[in-house]
Amino acid sequence: MRDSWHDAGHLIRLVLVLVLAAATFLVVRRAVIPEAFGMYGHYRPGALEDVQSRPLRFAGQAECAACHEDQAKVKSAGRHARTGCEACHGPLAAHAADPGGTKPRIEDIPGLCQGCHEKDAAKPSGFPQVARAEHYGGTGPCESCHQPHSPKLQ
Ligand code: HEC
Ligand code: HEC
Ligand code: HEC
Ligand code: HEC
Repeated sequence: MRDSWHDAGHLIRLVLVLVLAAATFLVVRRAVIPEAFGMYGHYRPGALEDVQSRPLRFAGQAECAACHEDQAKVKSAGRHARTGCEACHGPLAAHAADPGGTKPRIEDIPGLCQGCHEKDAAKPSGFPQVARAEHYGGTGPCESCHQPHSPKLQ
């Protein structure tokens, strides 16, 4: 009798260790989970405010068009009609709010065009694409032949 109690002691100690581990887990979890977690779903509701409070970086095409009517008009008649201004010019909310303060420039125009148009077997075959190295000298500035806002050559 004494022996079997002696053997069960091992199991009891093991159970105690597991209970202690589970209790520690619950205490730590309670301490580190942010308040209100799970209010709307499996996330922290404050995350919405964090994202909301970030400054806007994109102005949106309608804003650009209000001041740059000519470019907007040319673009809407060409094959880049559905490519947004800021897809090429980058995020320009700061410029739209204060046009004199920043002068937008595209540093690497061929690189920009290539980003969308470089030939790649993974692209849909109907999408206009060229291998830059073989297309009209490779390093030639794309915009010397293609008007960026309406790129089709007549
Ligand atoms: C409130 C009017 C206004 C808005 C909105 C505006 N711009 Fe401008 N933009 C200007 C003015 C004015 C200049 C000329 C600034 C200068 O020369 O100092 C300019 C200059 C530019 C230039 C440089 C032109 C050059 O000569 O090199 C680009 C590119 C440009 N804007 C693109 C955009 C885009 C894209 C948007 C939309 C995100 C936009 N702008 C929104 C007024 C505006
Ligand atoms: C497919 C890419 C692309 C799109 C889309 C695009 N642009 Fe441009 N834009 C360019 C390039 C490239 C230049 C030449 C930039 C340079 O020389 O720094 C340019 C030049 C300009 C200029 C300087 C004056 C001129 O006509 O050359 C303005 C202003 C401008 N863009 C405004 C806009 C606005 C507004 C929109 C949206 C209605 C727009 N762009 C859409 C690529 C684009
Ligand atoms: C953000 C992606 C994007 C960028 C950057 C871009 N394009 Fe495009 N381009 C397009 C899309 C989308 C189309 C239209 C595809 C369609 O209509 O099916 C297009 C169409 C074209 C066409 C086909 C015209 C035709 O009718 O055959 C040419 C040429 C072209 N782009 C040249 C350029 C040049 C040059 C630049 C750089 C100044 C440039 N693109 C930058 C997305 C882009
Ligand atoms: C010397 C003039 C010239 C230069 C520079 C040039 N292109 Fe072209 N591009 C053309 C001509 C002409 C065509 C139409 C005939 C053809 O498909 O060869 C064309 C067609 C295209 C097409 C449409 C292909 C299709 O399948 O519909 C794309 C996309 C294009 N060019 C992108 C670019 C890009 C990106 C650059 C810069 C890296 C560039 N081009 C530089 C003359 C030029």
